[in-house]
Amino acid sequence: MTVARRVLVVGGGGREHALTWKLARDGAEVIVAPGNAGTAGIADNVAVSATDVPALVALARDRRVDLTVVGPEAPLVAGIVDAFAAAGLRIFGPTARAAQLEGSKLFCKQILHRGDVPTAMFREFRSVAAARDFLSAREDVPVVVKADGLAAGKGVFVCDDREAALAAVETLGSDPQFAAAARGILVEERLDGVEVSVMAITDGRTIVTLPPLQDHKAAYDGDQGPNTGGMGAYCPTPFVDDGLLADIEARILVPTVHAMRRAKVPFQGVLYAGLMLTAQGPKVLEFNARFGDPECEALLVRMESSLLDLLDAAVDRRLEEAEPPAWRDGASVTVVMASEGYPGPVQKGRPIRGLEAAAAIPGVEVFHAATKLAADGSVLTDGGRTLAVTAVGDSLARAKLLAYSGVKEIRWPGAWCRKDISDKAAALARAGDPGAAE
Ligand code: AMP
Ligand code: GLY
Repeated sequence: MTVARRVLVVGGGGREHALTWKLARDGAEVIVAPGNAGTAGIADNVAVSATDVPALVALARDRRVDLTVVGPEAPLVAGIVDAFAAAGLRIFGPTARAAQLEGSKLFCKQILHRGDVPTAMFREFRSVAAARDFLSAREDVPVVVKADGLAAGKGVFVCDDREAALAAVETLGSDPQFAAAARGILVEERLDGVEVSVMAITDGRTIVTLPPLQDHKAAYDGDQGPNTGGMGAYCPTPFVDDGLLADIEARILVPTVHAMRRAKVPFQGVLYAGLMLTAQGPKVLEFNARFGDPECEALLVRMESSLLDLLDAAVDRRLEEAEPPAWRDGASVTVVMASEGYPGPVQKGRPIRGLEAAAAIPGVEVFHAATKLAADGSVLTDGGRTLAVTAVGDSLARAKLLAYSGVKEIRWPGAWCRKDISDKAAALARAGDPGAAE
C-alpha cells in the first residue's frame, strides 16, 4: 500500500487552497503550483503554471512527489495525467480522453446514451447554418444552445425562445473566442427544476459518492445577473435526501463510470454531476472531470477522515477496500467574495484587510481564490473570484451566520458578495415545516 507523504497540488484557486489545507491536515507535505497567497502560509508555492505540463512533470520528479492532485480542467484535458503516467508518476485525475466527459459535450452525451443515463434531449449540428435551419423549422420553445468544447463556462446560452436561440447560434458562429469550442453545436431541451451538484471519487470501477451540494451560479442575489463560475455553495443540500442520493448514485454515477469503462475510456478521478432535479427525476446537465469550485471548499471543511488516504486508494485502484469517508455533522457554507467588475474584467492588486480577524472566528476558514503576496507580505487581490469564506456549523443557519461574520471582517475597495447563499435550503425547510424556526 502506498502512503503518499509529499503531494503536489496543481492550480491556484479556492479549490486548490482547500485541497492544500485538507491534505496538509492529513499529514502531507504539500507543494502547490502555482498556488496563491493563502497556500503560501501552509505549503510550498512553486511558480509553475497549472497548464505547463512538462514543467509540472519535471517538478514532481525533482521534488520526489508521491502523489499529484489536479484542480482545474484545462491541464486534465491537455493530458497532464497521461504525461505523468508515462513518466511513472502517481497522479489523481482522468486521462485526456476520459476528461472529454467535461471537455466535449457531445462525447458526454454519447456516454450518457450508452449508460442510459437521464439527460436533456438534444440535437447535434456541425455548422451554424444547420443549427439555424433546425431552429427556424421547429416549434418555438425554450432551448439551451451549447458549444461542444471548453469555453470557460461561457459557451452555454439558456434561451426563452427561438429568437434568443438564433442569436446564440450566431454568437457561437461569429465570436472568435468560440472558434474552437463551436465546431460542434448542441441544441438542447431546456429543463426546469432545482440545480444541485453531486460529486464522486472513482478509481474507474468503484465509486465513493460525496455529500450533495448546491452552487449559486448567477452573479447576484435571487439568481439574477450573469452566469459566473459560482458565487457560493453549501453542504449538504436538503434538496437531495439520502434516498435521492442513492438513486443518483445508482441511475447516474454508476452507469456513467461503467459506460466509460465499456467504451475503453476508464475514468479515475472526481466525477462531478451537475444535475437538474426535474419533475421526472434527476437529469444530467453536465459532467465535470474534477472537484467543483466553490463546492470543494464547502465539502472539505466537513470531511473528518483522510482525503489523502482516499485519493491514494483511488490512484491505486483499491477504492473497494477503502473506508467510507466520515463527515462532520451539521453543515457548511462558502461565500465567494469577488472583486468589482466580476464576471467581467476586474482591477487587481488591491490590498485585502481583515483576513486574520475573519480566520480567528471559530469555525471559519478563509480560502484564497485569487490573491498574491506583495513584497512587504501584505495580501493583494489578483482576480475576479478573490476569496471563498467558508464556515462549518451545527446547522445550516449557524454555518451561514459564521460565514457572513467572516465576510464582514474582510475589506478591500470594490469587494462584494451574494448575501443569500444557502437561502433556498432555508426556504425549503420553511415550506416543509411552516412552524420551523430558522
Ligand atoms: P453547463 O456548462 O452545461 O452545465 O451549463 C451551464 C448552466 O446552464 C447550468 O448550470 C444550468 O444552469 C444551465 N443549463 C445547462 N443545460 C441546461 C438545460 N438543458 N436546461 C436548463 N438549464 C441548463
Ligand atoms: N461550481 C461549478 C464548477 O466548478 O464547475
